[in-house]
Amino acid sequence: MRRKVIAGNWKMNMLPNEAIDYIQAFEPMVKNAKSEVILCVPYTDLFYCISIAQGTNIKIGAQNMHFAESGAYTGEVSPKMLKSIGVEYVIIGHSERRQYYNETDETVNKKIKSAFENDLKPIVCVGETLEEREQGKTEEIITSQTRLALEGLSKEQVKNTIIAYEPIWAIGTGKTATSEDANNSIKSIREEIKKLYGEEVSSEVIIQYGGSVKASNAKELFETSDIDGGLVGGASLKPEEFSKIVNYEE
Ligand code: 13P
Repeated sequence: MRRKVIAGNWKMNMLPNEAIDYIQAFEPMVKNAKSEVILCVPYTDLFYCISIAQGTNIKIGAQNMHFAESGAYTGEVSPKMLKSIGVEYVIIGHSERRQYYNETDETVNKKIKSAFENDLKPIVCVGETLEEREQGKTEEIITSQTRLALEGLSKEQVKNTIIAYEPIWAIGTGKTATSEDANNSIKSIREEIKKLYGEEVSSEVIIQYGGSVKASNAKELFETSDIDGGLVGGASLKPEEFSKIVNYEE
């Protein structure tokens, strides 16, 4: 039985003092959670969040990284730097990075390999645009993004990759995919992984849904056969709201 993994993506929000207040308020609300809880926070909050979350069940992740370990890449942050301060997870290939910062399937693949080399666990985002969906290309797009992202990884690495299916039209729009639609898309990603890496890997890999997840729709989404939790943007910015998503079973 796969575990549920529920991650917050704060995106470009929260100053360090706000992050500290958040975690202090959030920790008692989720300390008995059955799901794994991750907060993916801005670089400037990482160190504070890791310090304050130490010894709790809250894991901390970054939202991006460079694929190189060091070098002349002004303004970038390397996997080695993240690891050195105790980061455990890193989001790779979020649609906002694909859209605004030239992230491609190729850089996503390089970053995933580099994350594993540096002992970081990648949360890899895939998802179709509204136009692609309307053209009936959803399955083609998300299976191809998955295939290219995972190219060259070992079975063990694929098993330890978290995939987040985030339809772009559902991000920050209040429009959630129906649980049936989201579950079917996730099934097609799992099927692709089965074709490439076999039944054992595909039945174990964690695949989340992301896109306007809220306290009011989390349970319905997470109780489907193939959705293993969520990657939550807006609704992760308030500890009360996010704790309800984490504790969706109650
Ligand atoms: P929202 O939950 O705000 O729609 O964002 C989803 C997302 O992009 C998480 O990575």
